[in-house]
Parts: sequence; structure tokens; C-alpha cells
Amino acid sequence: MKEEIIKGYCLSLRPDLLLPEEIKRYLSTKEIGQIIEHFRIIDSTNRRAKELALEGAPQGTVVVAEEQTGGRGRVSNRWFSPRGGIWFSVILTPDIDPQQASFVTLLASLAVVRGIQELVPLPLKIKWPNDVYLKNRKCAGILTEISAKMNLINYIVLGIGINIKIDSDSIPGELKKKIICLGDETETELFFSEILAKVLRQIELLYDQALGEGFGKIIDEWRKYDLLLGRQISVETPLEVISGQSIGINEKGALLLKTEQGQIIEVLAGSIIFK
Ligand code: BTN
Repeated sequence: MKEEIIKGYCLSLRPDLLLPEEIKRYLSTKEIGQIIEHFRIIDSTNRRAKELALEGAPQGTVVVAEEQTGGRGRVSNRWFSPRGGIWFSVILTPDIDPQQASFVTLLASLAVVRGIQELVPLPLKIKWPNDVYLKNRKCAGILTEISAKMNLINYIVLGIGINIKIDSDSIPGELKKKIICLGDETETELFFSEILAKVLRQIELLYDQALGEGFGKIIDEWRKYDLLLGRQISVETPLEVISGQSIGINEKGALLLKTEQGQIIEVLAGSIIFK
């Protein structure tokens, strides 16, 4: 009896840290996450993963942190990453044309949705190309960094941030309206290491599928979560701002916009501005 009480006490106090041994308790992958480097605090897991990739770390190596001091987002944005989120990067070395690397980003957003929904049925959406949304606010972001020469990918670092339970007082004012934490939207108790393990498993499944049979089915499944479908939006590309109605993504993973003149424009890369 005494032992049981002590066990229960320890369990409820167990800190939910993203320790490799905790993650591995839930992990069922062959390659992704077999090597995990964990940090309580680091500048950026993407920065560290790139360093490891250059040192020759094998595909599937994961860098995870409880907190980042210099978290990086897309288009040179900073990524707010205090304790309360899952901040991690995965090293991949696919034998594909560098031009196809953008598919890996789409694949990752789907893996995040699938992994979370395995544990909790939240109505998640994906904002092209790869932001995961809940109730029109962002709960996860993905930064894919590629090193390639000619037709060869040296490595891809897939950096993913998922907001779980961030202290709302610590969130800067302008960000408060834009982001959402999964833990605040469900009664289900979420374990950081379990969520990460589920997402890693989905990355592996989708990655193997993509390398084996191409990206077709992945694109089809991605379409089910398309946040922008039918919406009037503007997209800021490196060259211009294009406005129109989003009519989905094509087989290349490009966003299709129908302009007021009825012209269909294919956007390969850009940032969305909602109307
Ligand atoms: C975005 O702007 O939406 C992308 C955000 C990506 C954030 C993650 S957190 C883990 C990894 N390390 C980083 O510095 N950034 C990515």
C-alpha cells in the first residue's frame, strides 16, 4: 500500500521533459529519432541540427529543446519559443532533386496534424505551405532549411515548433491574438514526449511513402486540411504581391490563385496575407 502511494506521488510529480528516454518510451520508428540530442535551453535547434549534419550525423537525428533563446521562423522572423512548447529539428538526407524539397515541408505539416490528432481530435487546419492552425490561430510552424549542390541534397533540416502550454502572461501582446496552445483547447492531458514521438512516427511514415511512391497521396491528404481553400487572400512572393481566391494546391504543391480577371496563377513560394 505504502509503495503504491509513493509510486502515484512520483508519477504525478514527474516533470514532462522532452528527455530522450521519455520520448523513446513512446517512439515506434526505425530511423527518425533513433538518435536524440536534448537541450534544456539552446539558441536554435535548427542551428544545432545543421552543425550536426555538417559533422555527418545520420539521417533521422533529432535535436530537441525545452526552450530556445534564438528560435528562427520563416522569412527571417524570430520564433517565440519559451518553455511550454515542443521545439525540435530532424536531419533528413533524401536522394531527391533539390527542387522537390518543398514537398518535405508539406509532408511535415501533415505529419504534425496526424501526430496530434492521434492523441486528441482537434479540428486542425494547414495554412499553405506549412503552418498548422486551430481556430484561425497558429499552433505549429515549420522551417525547412536545405543544403544542396547542383542536383544533390546534402541535407535537409526540418525544424518544427508546436505550442502546447505556454504561460499566457509571457506571450508578447501582438502575438497573443495570433497563436494558440493545444493544451488550452483540450481537456485531454497532453504529454510533450508522447506528442513528439507520434509526430516523429508520422514523419517517418510519410517520408518513406514519399520516397517509395511519390508525393501524390500526400498532396491529396494535405488538401483535406487546407485552411485557405475558397478564401480571398494576397500572397507576398519575392517579386510581387498577388491577390485572388485560393483554389487549392496543385500536384507540385504550389498554391493556385484565381485573380479577379479569372486568371489562374501558380505560386511556388510566398507568405500569405489574409484579407
Ligand atoms: C515559422 O515561421 O512558422 C516556422 C517556425 C519554426 C520554428 C521551429 S522551433 C524548432 C526549430 N528551431 C528553430 O530555430 N526554428 C524551428
